Amino acid sequence: MPGFELFGPEERKEVNDVLETGILMRYGFDGPRKGIWKAKELENEICRILGSNHAQLVSSGTAALTAAYAALGIGAGDEVIMPVFTFVASFECILSVGAIPVLVDVDETLTLDPEAVRRAITPRTKCVMPVHMCGAMADLDPLLQICKEHNLILLEDACQSFGGRYKGKYLGTIGHAGTFSFDFVKIVTCAEGGAVVTNSEDVYTKLDGFSDHGHDHKGIDRGADLHPFIGYNFRISELHAAVGLAQVRKLEQFLTLQRNNQQQLKAILSTLPEVSFRRIPDPDGDICTFLTWFLPTEEITRAVVAELKAQNILAGNFFWYDNNWHYIRKWDHLKQAASLYNLTDPQQKALHALGSIVFPASDQIMSRCISTAIGLLWTEEQTREKGEKIVAAIKKVLNKAKVPA
Ligand SMILES: Cc1ncc(COP(=O)(O)O)c(C=O)c1O
Repeated sequence: MPGFELFGPEERKEVNDVLETGILMRYGFDGPRKGIWKAKELENEICRILGSNHAQLVSSGTAALTAAYAALGIGAGDEVIMPVFTFVASFECILSVGAIPVLVDVDETLTLDPEAVRRAITPRTKCVMPVHMCGAMADLDPLLQICKEHNLILLEDACQSFGGRYKGKYLGTIGHAGTFSFDFVKIVTCAEGGAVVTNSEDVYTKLDGFSDHGHDHKGIDRGADLHPFIGYNFRISELHAAVGLAQVRKLEQFLTLQRNNQQQLKAILSTLPEVSFRRIPDPDGDICTFLTWFLPTEEITRAVVAELKAQNILAGNFFWYDNNWHYIRKWDHLKQAASLYNLTDPQQKALHALGSIVFPASDQIMSRCISTAIGLLWTEEQTREKGEKIVAAIKKVLNKAKVPA
């Protein structure tokens, strides 16, 4: 699943280009860098692959989300509708710009249920943020329709889904802006890194400045830059960008490997009528980093997880319902508004309210859901072996469940 599985001479060559000049920073030092601009090259490559007008590289997916909110003008008191299944960064970034995360149910796409989004809209809603989880996409058409009807911003958190598509367009390029993570476990990695893409020149100019202390990057050197607005340091280094550049050029290779392995595994699990699969609105656009499947009940799912563990084959199979990072059930720090500094009153009120809100529709889905991470390097035989072991574990649990007490 992560691009680091296939590190090679390509990554070393790009990194060495940077080390040879010794210019590790992405801006300035025009002479000594001898024409080596890895961050710029990677931004161009991202635009070329995704067909986006602009890409701004930053230091992480978290930085990408934060910069995107800022550049889209989302701040104090604004409400952002987001799903209860995601990664904690999604709400961290909303809070960090002073805005309020409004959590709503997911459906079997594992991201925003459009009807839940409609119900959550208030006069303070400014943005809807679907999260394209585990390499596959939200059903964007109904969400775009809602945003159009209510004049809302659609920000795609595509941090887990670089290279995914929906109805012919790349994920991240369909809303007003889209974000990607290139952290160590992503399909394309910089070790740490992220990007925001947008077709709006205005949003891009803001991203460019915001991620570098507000610099307008128009001066003859950094000291001559003006600062039209306040920004921070979310810069990526040239070393990180160099790794990403080599990785992004291998994207098609990664996708082919993952698609083959995922399809083989799916065929094996499909032999069990009790197993169903995540709804993928555009199956051809799935980057196949995971195969996500459902069992009939929470009880059976828990028993299968226990059986996988007992057989020492749980690694790589994720039961998100019990996961501390990915599902609202375990986000106690969020529900308790456990911030190191003062949050705004509306933020605190919204977070404390989360402590008593229940999400039975999402629980119903997530408590039966397991995602199997797909390896890039699995051989056909290894994939078959993994699939057959999972099937055997499920069968064992199902057979036990059938025996009357
Ligand atoms: C959905 C989602 N959003 C945001 C992020 C944050 O990315 P990063 O780890 O690069 O900060 C992640 C990271 O896993 C993620 O999965």
